[in-house]
Amino acid sequence: MKKVFITGGAGFIGSRVVREFLDAGYEVTVFDSFKQYLLPDLEARPVNLLNRLRKVINNVSIITGDTLNKDFLRRSILNVKPDVIVHMAALPLASIAIEQTEEAYDSILSSTINILEIIRDFDHNCKFLYTSSSMVYGDFDSNTVSEDSNKDPKEIYGSIKLAGEIISMGYMKRYGIDVRVVRPTAVYGPYDGNQRVLYKFITRALKGEKLLVDGDGSMALDFTFVDDTAQGIYRVSTKEGISGEIFNIARGNSETLSSAIDIISNNIDGVKVEYREVPSYMPKRGTLDISKAKKLVGFMPNYDLDKGVKVYIDHLKNNPI
Ligand SMILES: NC(=O)c1ccc[n+]([C@@H]2O[C@H](COP(=O)([O-])OP(=O)(O)OC[C@H]3O[C@@H](n4cnc5c(N)ncnc54)[C@H](O)[C@@H]3O)[C@@H](O)[C@H]2O)c1
Repeated sequence: MKKVFITGGAGFIGSRVVREFLDAGYEVTVFDSFKQYLLPDLEARPVNLLNRLRKVINNVSIITGDTLNKDFLRRSILNVKPDVIVHMAALPLASIAIEQTEEAYDSILSSTINILEIIRDFDHNCKFLYTSSSMVYGDFDSNTVSEDSNKDPKEIYGSIKLAGEIISMGYMKRYGIDVRVVRPTAVYGPYDGNQRVLYKFITRALKGEKLLVDGDGSMALDFTFVDDTAQGIYRVSTKEGISGEIFNIARGNSETLSSAIDIISNNIDGVKVEYREVPSYMPKRGTLDISKAKKLVGFMPNYDLDKGVKVYIDHLKNNPI
């Protein structure tokens, strides 16, 4: 049986990636510190992160550990001897990376190097997937960016994510490690515990509170339903013969905040909106070209915004995250 080791496997995206690997017949080990980065926001609250794995808990080995504890991480990985390592554990929000730069550096970059150093000593083949972000592009230089487009991160998070890509590729070139990279973007759906925009919009709409919109509603994001992101990550991390390749993983069609609000209004009565300034760290974004992922790994997103938001609203009506 093939084995996968997933750092951050108890996270929002990671827990969904776990299900992709279980469905494909892998033996799955989750390595996670069960750490939640909360914003200084009255709406932010700690959640039970184990809840996300509730349905599969008996089919997964779970190790509580920090990727910064190198020796424990090494022992954990060597015990498993995985065929694939999916590395998703990280401080996940640009706004927090600005406040906690050293934590972001350790969490994103040092932890990546720790894993690469462990793989470097392997005497067996292991695919390594590094989870980057569309924030590496900074302000998009056109409405649609492909993997080769200009990368000029606007702030700390995107810069460190890009550094992680470069160092991963450096290890590939120097030590022959099989590295692949994904750049997800604007992921939404059940069990997002990080108060991202659609979570906030829908929970506020359900409570009859005003939606707080950054800008005039024209900001466009390539909103991607979490199941689609997980499908892309599974495909990229397991495909043979793509070492050194980088993939945009997104819906491949940006939508404005106003369109998202329209969809929410069609499903929840009495939605009210308040507009405010766009935070300075927020780049101008748009669509991610996903033709490379479609062609090389058969990636095929299944959720447009309308379908995904409806699923998410139904979920949030019955669950806190
Ligand atoms: N959600 C998005 O829209 C998005 C977009 C682009 C990239 N990403 C990236 O995808 C990955 C997963 O993001 P997410 O949205 O699922 O975030 P998340 O916070 O839900 O998941 C991250 C998981 O990593 C764990 N973790 C954090 N630091 C750790 C450490 N040092 N050691 C072990 N475990 C640790 C946390 O406990 C958590 O379970 C991150 O690398 C993030 O930067 C997310």
